[in-house]
Amino acid sequence: MCGIVGYVGGKQARDVVIDGLRRLEYRGYDSAGVALVSDGEIAFDKRAGKLANLEKAMEGSPLPASTTGIGHTRWATHGAPNDLNAHPHLGAKGRVALVHNGIIENFATLRDELERAGHDLVSETDTEVAAHLVEAELDRGADLTAAMQAVCRRLEGAFTLVAVDGEDPARVVAARRNSPLVVGIGEGENFLGSDVAAFIEHTREALELGQDQVVTITRSDVSVTDFDGNPAEGRRYHVDWDLSAAEKDGFDWFMRKEIFEQPRAVADALLGRHDETGALQLDEVRISDEELRDIDKIVIVGCGTAHYAGLVAKYAVEHWTRIPCEVELAHEFRYRDPILTRNTLVVAISQSGETADTLMAIRHARAQRSKVLAICNTNGSTIPRESDAVIYTHAGPEIGVASTKGFLTQLVACYLLGLYLAQVRGTKFGDEIAAVVEELQRMPGHVQQMLDEAEKVYELARGYADTRSVLFLGRHAGYPVALEGALKLKELAYIHAEGFAAGELKHGPIALIEEGLPVFCVVPPRGRDQLHDKMASAIQEIRARGARTIVLAEEGDQEVAPYADDTIPLPVVPTLLQPLVAVVPLQLFACELATVLGHDVDQPRNLAKSVTVE
Ligand code: AGP
Repeated sequence: MCGIVGYVGGKQARDVVIDGLRRLEYRGYDSAGVALVSDGEIAFDKRAGKLANLEKAMEGSPLPASTTGIGHTRWATHGAPNDLNAHPHLGAKGRVALVHNGIIENFATLRDELERAGHDLVSETDTEVAAHLVEAELDRGADLTAAMQAVCRRLEGAFTLVAVDGEDPARVVAARRNSPLVVGIGEGENFLGSDVAAFIEHTREALELGQDQVVTITRSDVSVTDFDGNPAEGRRYHVDWDLSAAEKDGFDWFMRKEIFEQPRAVADALLGRHDETGALQLDEVRISDEELRDIDKIVIVGCGTAHYAGLVAKYAVEHWTRIPCEVELAHEFRYRDPILTRNTLVVAISQSGETADTLMAIRHARAQRSKVLAICNTNGSTIPRESDAVIYTHAGPEIGVASTKGFLTQLVACYLLGLYLAQVRGTKFGDEIAAVVEELQRMPGHVQQMLDEAEKVYELARGYADTRSVLFLGRHAGYPVALEGALKLKELAYIHAEGFAAGELKHGPIALIEEGLPVFCVVPPRGRDQLHDKMASAIQEIRARGARTIVLAEEGDQEVAPYADDTIPLPVVPTLLQPLVAVVPLQLFACELATVLGHDVDQPRNLAKSVTVE
């Protein structure tokens, strides 16, 4: 998720674009850049690091005056966050400058085609490929609008592209597919932005673009077409948010916004993970297939929510690959003198990539000559840099301290790793792997289905404002969901909460059950051996002792319904993938209850987004 700004009008474009980028830095902040159209050519500057780095550089060597320009703040997906990979990217002769948000799935094929045609691509990004393609269309006589249409017809994946032509100062052209883009309509000036925060200090008249549309803005005109050049319509509206609300896309908290971004985040985590034959491919896995075939043990390390993602992964990875899989709290790992060899794969899960406990764990693993693979959301952070391989989760910046989309995309990355290992080691047939990938492709829709029912969960949450303790039960892959649900309630509502494996109840915890005690029960899908029935028994046992049961179960599961004081229906999905949907109502519940209690949901007391001390 990156920040994009475009401008054409009577003001200094440099100032309008930089101000817009400043308001979009929450969308990405590992590098930034600006491109202007001046005296028949492109003038640009771009720097790694926060926007302030770019501004400082521009003070030393200011860009020329211009009234047409674009800008970008990056959240890296392809290519480390450095000056070279920062946006904008230029075409072969520097006539076109282009910025991009999203993932172009078929960029490798297009890059090969360009290089075979003699193009010299200098960055690691998918964006530079688009810039070269657009400029090549100009070379063939198209104007910038027609060039953008032609290129978009060839791209696959999710993208917002914004471009300028050094020889055409009158216009900025943009396009979108599965990625946000909105037009700001001014008087004698027009704007483009990833969201309205980019321009609401100038205008509150907005035009939201639809799927597969191209927009051309000049000082006096905004015209929209589809990718084939046919006229199209955007959705005109008035923005009545203040700036703070605009940054949160109208939500009250970044965390709530990030909960609702999860369908997109899960879809983005799946983008570009298979080649044209359908075989899985994982970015920056610098461990050879032969070494992966020699792996005889996997150890997953992480902290907090990341640790729970590892617990879910264990069920999937062992089932699909038959490799023994241990899951360890990172801060405990190296102190237990773990048995590690060259054939051990240590998987480090970390949203920030900077958690000290996890970093120390992988340093210990590497000292024992084990291979380390990072699952991380922050491109270029320390943990992936010190790992042999990485799977980036592509969730976009997660601002809320409590992890939500970070967790769901960690699960997706873990599933992809398990399937990739199964593919390399031949423990699952190609069609079996493809079937699971198809199920994963349906998960964004299932997650959206849970979000569509958010109001019912909010209503439930508001009834628990006086609660002092809550239990969470789950079995199999639902057990880590119970742990994560308890953590969300602890870290947001400051309520004592504890997650248990439901089978553990009779070994002690059932003594905690008393009249009115709320217990969330995550019920496995039906038809999976006896797991479902054993969970149903556990619910009966606690209900008989007075617990107030909130049951998360498949739609239509009548077996557990009689023992549920409240029911949260789940879509019918495979057992191993159920955590992707079951955790969503628990996130919503904790977020709403914390809001009702008047807590700072984005920055809960005593917590930091990244724990960089041991
Ligand atoms: C989760 O809501 C918490 N913010 C915390 O448990 C977090 O998951 C943990 O500190 C690990 O952070 P990381 O994923 O950035 O390594």
